[in-house]
Amino acid sequence: MNIAIIGSGYVGLVSGACFAELGNRVICVDNDAKKITALKKGVIPIYEPGLRELITINMKKKRLKFTTSIKEAVSSSQIIFIAVGTPSKAGGEADLTGIENVARNIAKNIFGYRLIVEKSTVPVETGEWVKHTIATYKKNKAKFDVASNPEFLREGQAINDFMHPDRIVIGVESKKAKELLIGLYGPLNAPIVVTDIKSAELIKHASNSFLAAKISFINALSVICEKTGADVIQVARGMGLDKRIGQSFLKAGIGYGGSCFPKDVDAFITISERIGYSFEMLKAVKKINQQQQEYFLNKIKNLLWIIKDKRIAVLGLSFKPNTDDIRNAPAIEIVKALQEEGAVIRAYDPQAMERAKKVLKGVNFCADPYLACKGSDCLLLMTEWDEFKELDFSKIRKLMHRPLLVDGRNIYKADQLKKAGFKYSAIGTGGSGK
Ligand code: UDX
Repeated sequence: MNIAIIGSGYVGLVSGACFAELGNRVICVDNDAKKITALKKGVIPIYEPGLRELITINMKKKRLKFTTSIKEAVSSSQIIFIAVGTPSKAGGEADLTGIENVARNIAKNIFGYRLIVEKSTVPVETGEWVKHTIATYKKNKAKFDVASNPEFLREGQAINDFMHPDRIVIGVESKKAKELLIGLYGPLNAPIVVTDIKSAELIKHASNSFLAAKISFINALSVICEKTGADVIQVARGMGLDKRIGQSFLKAGIGYGGSCFPKDVDAFITISERIGYSFEMLKAVKKINQQQQEYFLNKIKNLLWIIKDKRIAVLGLSFKPNTDDIRNAPAIEIVKALQEEGAVIRAYDPQAMERAKKVLKGVNFCADPYLACKGSDCLLLMTEWDEFKELDFSKIRKLMHRPLLVDGRNIYKADQLKKAGFKYSAIGTGGSGK
């Protein structure tokens, strides 16, 4: 099929590359001319394992190309995905200016049947607005459908998530739209959930909010475990083996971050408010997530007493491993809070340092984890990159000024660290597991 993807950000690029890999002819659009010029040369603006290779191969096979022209994309494609950003406004509401702009531009360039699909995470009823906008600005009688097809890609494993999804959700209101999308996704052999457009839009916000709720639940539980001497890792395992609950997203830590959960929880609270429902549960999810950072900071203070002038080593800055993304990363907020109290920070992250340099001033970014630990009074594990699981702690012990370790992701075993001479503190556990 001929497909256009408007918006060559994270979701747009991954989806575009994967649709091309499935044998479709894909044209990716972005209004950032510099980004498009770079993409044409094979320079990818984000770090996502496997993405560069997929883009390069499909460009060579002439199944994937890049342009700044919506006109070119709309005229050559039957299915047009909208994958532009929907950032949060100050009050938490999603900013849909980008979506409206794209809808108007599509309208001006439609000359035959087109299926326009929302891929960006949008509030319920956006589909109706897109339909209304296209109908208003269209200059001819060309027919079109609007559909919703939310993405569930996780950063760091987005290609695998695209190619092997748990389910594909398509919200449609015509047989033609349904057939086109089922045809497009058929090769993935995944369950396809066909709904109306509003339900599909809600599935996305509901899924992300529910996952965020699972994380906040286990984080709240970690505080109870800590206060009672129980072990949150064992509690999570005991709960998660119940198939109705499930093991995943029950890892206690320093809170969720990233470009989706914080934004989507905020947006869902605002959408609910707007339609007259106060989503108290989600408000608590958000509050617990913020509190989790405060608990972590208190742990550090309990070990160091005064933060001012203490040298603190930080391992991990991205919001989770296998990505260079630092958007809403708890590590970044925690570093800023420590700096405000006068801490001297030495940090290392395998991928996120370039991005972190832009938002963190006065941090000494180090070439490896050991250099970060040199002379420090305390070591903080903030992101569970694999390479941090294999560190030589007897070497680190010798490098550090004081052997204090606060494990924000519960990846170390307390007895091993104690053996290496460390005072070890984790989240809601004495350190039972890696
Ligand atoms: C998420 C959704 O998983 C994905 O379906 C959606 O399309 C986009 O948002 P992503 O933001 O890439 O994906 O990250 P994810 O792996 O879901 O993790 C989000 C945050 O939750 C991270 O900060 C992670 O550290 C945290 N997390 C996750 C926990 O603290 N505990 C867990 O058990 C799981």
